[in-house]
Amino acid sequence: MWLEVRDLVVRYEGAEVVKGVSLHLEPGEIVTLIGSNGAGKSTILRTLSGLKTPAAGEIWFEGVRIDGQRPQTIVKMGMVQVPQDRGLFPYMTVAENLKVGAYLRKDRKASARDLAEVLSHFPRLKERARQQASTLSGGEQQMLAIATALMCQPRLLLLDEPSMGLSPLMVGEIAKIIREIHEAGTSVLLVEQNSRLALKLASRAYVLETGKIVIEGSAEELLHSEHVRKAYLGE
Ligand SMILES: Nc1ncnc2c1ncn2[C@@H]1O[C@H](COP(=O)(O)OP(=O)(O)OP(=O)(O)O)[C@@H](O)[C@H]1O
Ligand SMILES: [Mg+2]
Repeated sequence: MWLEVRDLVVRYEGAEVVKGVSLHLEPGEIVTLIGSNGAGKSTILRTLSGLKTPAAGEIWFEGVRIDGQRPQTIVKMGMVQVPQDRGLFPYMTVAENLKVGAYLRKDRKASARDLAEVLSHFPRLKERARQQASTLSGGEQQMLAIATALMCQPRLLLLDEPSMGLSPLMVGEIAKIIREIHEAGTSVLLVEQNSRLALKLASRAYVLETGKIVIEGSAEELLHSEHVRKAYLGE
């Protein structure tokens, strides 16, 4: 398995928030993790990125055990997270934010080329390269957060609620960008509360409820599951 999470347990000051989660992802997949507020979705992503140390369990990426590794090491291995709060530097411009994204890269020339390449996929950002990040609209900020992650050349992108707070039109644009990134060869682990969108984009899905996976299957299966339809699709 490419990414494998085995029996992961995560605690905050004694409170168990992730209670023995196992999941996996293969190259080329978009897999989604859906669940309500407080289910533990962001905690799982933060633990994958090395920002939180698990209390128990193991995380393996490309045959290497990565739980306990530093976040920088995990980024260099190709797993890059776009955090729920977007993680931008508000007082820096769009271009400066993107350059910080490439900071971990050694090859300066390649980084400059990537800046142009990444911007070519985001015409809205290209037009706003010198604009301060804090003055971007919510959707543009989400685009910048994704673009910044792309500067690290991820092979696996971890997206934490990219549709949060966006208008239906902008949600559509973000969905298109996620599809393009996937088509260009990057795998995606997508955390979403917009379950309908997530199940449309992903081929497989996990449903997380209070720290436990309660359902897993193909997106198609979940779209037809009675529980998912009632609890997550509002049918
Ligand atoms: N730093 C922290 N210290 C203590 N408790 C925390 C911390 N971060 C998260 N929690 C708690 O852990 C639980 C899971 O939070 P998490 O952010 O992982 O949920 P989530 O599924 O991402 O929710 P949302 O959809 O609202 O983003 C919540 O009860 C939250 O209050
Ligand atoms: Mg969250």
